[in-house]
Amino acid sequence: MNKTTFLYEGKAKKLYDTADPNMVIVVYKDDATAFNAQKKGTIIDKGIYNNKITEIIYKKLASEGIPTHFVQRLNDREQVCKKVQIIPLEIIIRNFIAGSLAKTLKIEEGKEIDTPILELCYKKDELGDPMINGTHVIALKLATAEDLKTIYDLAHKINTILQKFFIDRDIILVDLKMEFGKLPNGEIILADEISPDTCRLWDKTTKHKLDKDRFRRDLGDIESAYQEVYKRLQ
Ligand code: TMP
Ligand code: ASP
Repeated sequence: MNKTTFLYEGKAKKLYDTADPNMVIVVYKDDATAFNAQKKGTIIDKGIYNNKITEIIYKKLASEGIPTHFVQRLNDREQVCKKVQIIPLEIIIRNFIAGSLAKTLKIEEGKEIDTPILELCYKKDELGDPMINGTHVIALKLATAEDLKTIYDLAHKINTILQKFFIDRDIILVDLKMEFGKLPNGEIILADEISPDTCRLWDKTTKHKLDKDRFRRDLGDIESAYQEVYKRLQ
């Protein structure tokens, strides 16, 4: 399958149409951003690792019955995905306190919580992706109540599957961000990448950070963190 027309360039990926109106090609870039693109950089070969890591994770999720947009990886940086209408929400699930939640609530990073926290953010760069709740989503018609129920259910299932998948590889899934899209028939499926850009991943024993926080916080050894995640998932 080949790229036809260029559709869209995001912060970490580019999107192209294909000859099949139901399929797009996603191209993973090495560009890295943080804090709503106020911080910009390059992580060498990140696009290759995130493409391959996303493939492994999406195949695992599909094998567990999760509907997803992933079709096949084409090469180092490209994958074919089903074309969806993205629901403009970022769904975050947290298994440990970290990142913005640690900062907002002034709770020490790393505290385990025994029931996952689910947060919704409105995907709108010019507003800095503000946190909203389910009643905003319904009132603003970003999704219906029924869609939201499907999204919550899928998000919790995905988190449970991936927590186990990662811990079997000595990685703690601290939190993750998901996006969902709608197929023309109305079905809601998981879309976008799941990678060290969109999850917090800590080594089980040392708690060493193996994700984009190394870039966000200038911790160094960024490339080797992405490589290590890929190595453990293979
Ligand atoms: P946060 O603690 O900064 O709110 O991030 C929660 C999770 O969401 C973390 O795994 C990183 C991920 N995330 C994204 O994928 N994109 C974003 O724009 C942000 C802010 C976070
Ligand atoms: N991807 C986000 C941005 O640059 C932020 C992040 O991942 O921390 O806006």
